[in-house]
Amino acid sequence: MSGEVAAPERPTGDDGSLRALEKITPPEIFEELRKGVLGQDEALRYVSVALFKHTTGKVPGNILLVGNSGTGKTTIMNNIQRLYHDVPEYHPFRAMTIINANLLVDAERLEFRPERLLTAVEQRARAIVGQRATVEELRAAMESATVCIDEIDKMSSIVAGKPNPLGVVLQQGLLTLMEGELVAYRAHVEVDGKPEETTIPVDTTNMMFICGGAFEGLYDQVYLRVVNPGSGEKLKSHAIQMADGQVRIETRFSLADFLKPEDLFEYGMVPQFMARFDNVVLLRELSVDVLKEILMNSLDSPYVRSKRYFEVMNITLDMDDVAAATIAEIAELNIRTGARALRTVFGKIINRLEFNPQGDEGLVDNPDGSQKIVLTADRVRRALGL
Ligand SMILES: Nc1ncnc2c1ncn2[C@@H]1O[C@H](COP(=O)(O)OP(=O)(O)O)[C@@H](O)[C@H]1O
Ligand SMILES: [Mg+2]
Repeated sequence: MSGEVAAPERPTGDDGSLRALEKITPPEIFEELRKGVLGQDEALRYVSVALFKHTTGKVPGNILLVGNSGTGKTTIMNNIQRLYHDVPEYHPFRAMTIINANLLVDAERLEFRPERLLTAVEQRARAIVGQRATVEELRAAMESATVCIDEIDKMSSIVAGKPNPLGVVLQQGLLTLMEGELVAYRAHVEVDGKPEETTIPVDTTNMMFICGGAFEGLYDQVYLRVVNPGSGEKLKSHAIQMADGQVRIETRFSLADFLKPEDLFEYGMVPQFMARFDNVVLLRELSVDVLKEILMNSLDSPYVRSKRYFEVMNITLDMDDVAAATIAEIAELNIRTGARALRTVFGKIINRLEFNPQGDEGLVDNPDGSQKIVLTADRVRRALGL
């Protein structure tokens, strides 16, 4: 037997080391997720509540994340996974998988292939219950899985104006799975010390489903509906503070302000499939301020990574505030790539420095023998050719 806790034997807190799951409140879950996901508080609140329900044995309610590329959909999924790993009480829920929607259909046979999802879930479940788990242990771990299906928008029933039967197959298959279905899943399980192929009836009722997609055409589609003179809708203006202190007024379209369920149907999402989602959550465009904060503080920021890279060489990398704001501003101009642009922009500044810090004129010796480089606004502007 593996020494780990097997679902559904959930920690009770009785032994003093683990809290009861009810004690880990949605605000606490939210704060933990926020270490890696910034500027998406509304989405994270929905996710935190769903996670709380899921881990306390209630129906979590499925979530659809809709947001432009680079606004944090996959990052949210990754951070749920991080949470399950970092919080010991959540170890029984580590059977989580993030899979792209297109992998769940066989394009040639036009078939939904739920076993591909369950194979991924099984692999994760094995990390909890071990290779020698019984059918019951494995089944229990799998049934409490969190399933994230990414790039769901690529499985619309209409692609480039043409019907996409594969999308319909996927959506119909998924909707049954999300409703709660007994899937006959073939797995190798140890019986009397020998691995045997067994059919395990896996009930998907208690799984938590989170789907995500950029729905790029949706953005244009709703934009056109809204700017149509007869629509009766009006774009909103926002004041944006620049790094140099100036304020710019921008009228920018935000999907979150206008999306209706009918827009998603028109986009090619099957209404019955959409009905399986308790919440359709729109991710926000990331403002310059949020991009700057992501750059400075998020777990996965290219700056934070670079800091760690230089630490190994006993070099402290710092960046001043205006430099960070300048990078964020340039990244923000790249509206269609979101926070991904931070990586590209920051890369232009850091690549040469990472290659050969010792040859850099900005490298300063500290009295204690360590060294230091500060990324100033001036340096950033020069590197970006501004
Ligand atoms: N809201 C966010 N908070 C922190 N980092 C983010 C956020 N959105 C995007 N990023 C960063 O930008 C990159 C792309 O984000 P990702 O979540 O993959 O975007 P998508 O919404 O297209 O799935 C990742 O490296 C991630 O670290
Ligand atoms: Mg993504």
